[in-house]
Amino acid sequence: MLPAVPLLALDRQYDVLRDEIQAAIREVCDSGRFVLGPDVSALEDELAKVLDVPHVIGCASGSDALLLALMAVGVGPGDEVLLPSYTFFATASAVTRLGAVPIFADIDPETFIVDPADVRRKVSRRCRAIIPVHLFGRTADMDALLPIAAEAGVPVIEDAAQSILSTWHGRCSGGLGDIGCFSFYPTKNLGGAGDGGFLTTTRDDLAKQLRLLRVHGMEPRYYHDVVGINSRLDSIQAAVLRVKLPHLDTWTSQRQENAARYDRLFAAAGLAEHVITPSDETRGRHVWNQYVVRIKGGQRDALRQHLSACKVGTEIYYPVPLHLQRCFAHLGWRHGDLPATEQAAEETLALPIFPELRADEQETVVGRIAEFFGAAPAGSDGAEARGGQPAGGSEEPSAVRQPHFLRRAVGRADEVIS
Ligand SMILES: Cc1ncc(COP(=O)(O)O)c(C=O)c1O
Repeated sequence: MLPAVPLLALDRQYDVLRDEIQAAIREVCDSGRFVLGPDVSALEDELAKVLDVPHVIGCASGSDALLLALMAVGVGPGDEVLLPSYTFFATASAVTRLGAVPIFADIDPETFIVDPADVRRKVSRRCRAIIPVHLFGRTADMDALLPIAAEAGVPVIEDAAQSILSTWHGRCSGGLGDIGCFSFYPTKNLGGAGDGGFLTTTRDDLAKQLRLLRVHGMEPRYYHDVVGINSRLDSIQAAVLRVKLPHLDTWTSQRQENAARYDRLFAAAGLAEHVITPSDETRGRHVWNQYVVRIKGGQRDALRQHLSACKVGTEIYYPVPLHLQRCFAHLGWRHGDLPATEQAAEETLALPIFPELRADEQETVVGRIAEFFGAAPAGSDGAEARGGQPAGGSEEPSAVRQPHFLRRAVGRADEVIS
């Protein structure tokens, strides 16, 4: 039997940091400061340094970050906001919660990221903001998008929930547009022990507004000139994240190495006829929150079933594009409106890419895919992983490898939803 491979195994990260994380949580409990407070301020300062942005504002989730950003730039009922349909639901629900109208743009079929040409086509006089999503850890084409926003005179709100530490010409995502929105959801590259998020901005006026809006618009205490929301980051989250932040760069490099290893394994397995692997970004750092392949020939779901039977974790991001979600039916979008988006929803499959993923586990993943397509087994890295031995047959390579890392039955990281 080949070993099982989880989509994500947060327990491996926690095993290394357990003592530090538990001590940090204990300190917060001892302090009695549970909401915002010194840990949140310290985390904001540390993130500002790492991302090289002047302002970081913690909040309760990436979803709230998007909502706060749109509120801060004054989006309201009837306004249009341009965004991709191929993204997590929160990108669009932030728009509709304010009574504004999401205008969905199609994606570039190669990168899965919003197509600037379609954005340009759809900007109208009612447009009040553009939200590029740096999907799967890759920065959107800001060279093309920023001039479109500037011409339209609207702010750019980066949905950087999946892309912390990604860059564009050397600058971090979140500092490229007017506001950046990030998530600390546990599956993200920097994940907390629960929900959390933050905003970035280079603009002093927006920073001030965002700080106000996250605390009900209250300034001073119990005085409200504007209506905000309750979206404060918990001190326990901040304390845990401060333990993890110094490791983020290394974890990101490990994700990059894993992506490069997949590329080699897929090339060696001769699967190009069936599997299109994702390209890297030459204009900036791709941080590989997800490694998403495209499966040709209408075989994606059958392959996923096969992998699931083999206990290889995968996920579909996203099976139903947002313009076709039932809750948005009243907006009048139809099948066929965004062809590249709809095709991606039918063909993409995310494979395990987390930093602690081992080389032999990646061989297992590619080997199982090769098995499904009846192709030769993967093994370009096999020689590397097995100390120079040639890659063996596909039958039972696990027999010569380390036993699979034991996962706990409770709190499995791959059961999370986004
Ligand atoms: C692209 C994108 N936007 C927004 C969010 C929302 O973040 P959160 O889950 O922290 O609310 C997520 C993550 O789930 C995401 O992937």
